[in-house]
Amino acid sequence: MHNAVFQQLGMDYLYVAFRVRKEELSEAIHGIRALGIRGINVTIPHKVDVIPLLDELDPLAERIGAVNTIVNDDGVLKGYNTDATGFQQALLEEGVEPKGKDVVILGAGGASRSVSFILAQEGANLVILNRRLELDWAKELARQISQFFDKEVGALELSEENLTAVLREADIVVNATSVGMSPSINETPVPSKLLKPGLVVFDIVYNPIKTRLLREAEAAGAKTIGGLNMLAWQGALAFEQFTGQKAPVDLMRKEAIKVLSGNEK
Ligand code: ATR
Repeated sequence: MHNAVFQQLGMDYLYVAFRVRKEELSEAIHGIRALGIRGINVTIPHKVDVIPLLDELDPLAERIGAVNTIVNDDGVLKGYNTDATGFQQALLEEGVEPKGKDVVILGAGGASRSVSFILAQEGANLVILNRRLELDWAKELARQISQFFDKEVGALELSEENLTAVLREADIVVNATSVGMSPSINETPVPSKLLKPGLVVFDIVYNPIKTRLLREAEAAGAKTIGGLNMLAWQGALAFEQFTGQKAPVDLMRKEAIKVLSGNEK
């Protein structure tokens, strides 16, 4: 995505991937300064562990407790979370306004944290469902959000019974679990009989581009938003932090589709 834009706009940047071992994260982050790298994206499993290694944190990233974008300003490393703002932009682009809406979030892992915080910030009413309630991740996330925004947030086990109950009233459901992700493309976190017109179904899984959840939601007449939109937007917002220039998000989305549909063959 990034390289396609750099090429198209004739910008002298290059985006490359580095695999970094957990025990070498600190060296890798210090290396950004030493090598004069302008910025990086951080992905699983380092989004939380990079935080103590940074000089500054954007307030939203601090609140979420996860960073996916680091910008190097003359040796000062600042962390951002464009997963959250990317999700927000993807909703906005589809004309979905979360304020006052009842939103069901599936999953309580890293991706769910970003999505849940930004939705709470936007004024949505949240209930978080997670498979392993015994780990209390959903409850802990709900507690943190309700403390920060002074607002009640529900936490329930991800069971069919609970899903049936919460989806009856819901306006938006977000899949922030990995259910349905390649190679388990025949799985879905929501039984199709619970999908209905009027519901907005946002699946943050982007591989495959059209998950089983999205296909069944579409067939049920629900409005669907795929994870590819969030992927493109988090990239676009990171690009803007790196370069100070507006990102051509449609070009980035097109590139991502090109690569991902290659994967599906
Ligand atoms: P990410 O950074 O992508 O959010 P993560 O932090 O590992 O990754 O979180 C993955 C989420 O998907 C978790 O909420 C996980 O539920 P558990 O906490 O119970 O593990 C959820 N998940 C993964 N596989 C699942 C499955 N088969 N059914 C339900 N939830 C699942």
